[in-house]
Amino acid sequence: MKLVLVTEKNLIEAYNVQKSIFPEEPDYLFLKNAVDKKDKALKHYLAYDNGKCVGITGVYVENCDKDSIWLSWFGVLKEKRSKGYGRKILEATRVICKKLPFKYFRCYTSSKYNASALPLYNSFFDISEKYENSEDETYENTTIIYSSSLTNEKVKPWNNKYIGIKEYDELCVQGEEFLNKNSLMS
Ligand SMILES: CC(C)(COP(=O)(O)OP(=O)(O)OC[C@H]1O[C@@H](n2cnc3c(N)ncnc32)[C@H](O)[C@@H]1OP(=O)(O)O)[C@@H](O)C(=O)NCCC(=O)NCCS
Repeated sequence: MKLVLVTEKNLIEAYNVQKSIFPEEPDYLFLKNAVDKKDKALKHYLAYDNGKCVGITGVYVENCDKDSIWLSWFGVLKEKRSKGYGRKILEATRVICKKLPFKYFRCYTSSKYNASALPLYNSFFDISEKYENSEDETYENTTIIYSSSLTNEKVKPWNNKYIGIKEYDELCVQGEEFLNKNSLMS
């Protein structure tokens, strides 16, 4: 299994993979921003095995906390699931994070909408906590934040600091509008 950086060349392929895994949240603009910004802490990767794409992963940073790097669109194509790719891709993403100057590796998920990820996250990350923030989207109070330390230091909980899931969801809608307007998918 190897990870291939998402660039301008494979951006549409990455979008199609992300959209097939997350049909309710196609996120062209977030993927495009990561390509355009050329920031080491904002990247996506397609995962390949034997020359075939099996999934996607990525990293990004929340502006309010410079110690943490977050897991971005992580998933395995439906027909490739339960073969060990998910764990391998997640491990490979942590290796990428370890090379960057961050203390904590985190991700948010929903116990309702991403239930398939919970067994993996429970065994992979150091801690989990419920995300409760009345200002933000929490998917009917089902959002969980998972965190691990990237150093020898013990991981600090996120403690319900505002993430901005609401804005991420809005970006998905804007991305679809952008694609339609620019006829990029026709
Ligand atoms: C979560 C996901 C990436 C797992 O990918 P995968 O390739 O099936 O995972 P793996 O085969 O590596 O399995 C990882 C572990 O989870 C367990 N697991 C995987 N799918 C499971 C399921 N549906 N129910 C229970 N356990 C499951 C496996 O037993 C395995 O345990 P082990 O490593 O201790 O043996 C995949 O289900 C997926 O893409 N889901 C949709 C997208 C998503 O929700 N992503 C998370 C967004 S936050």
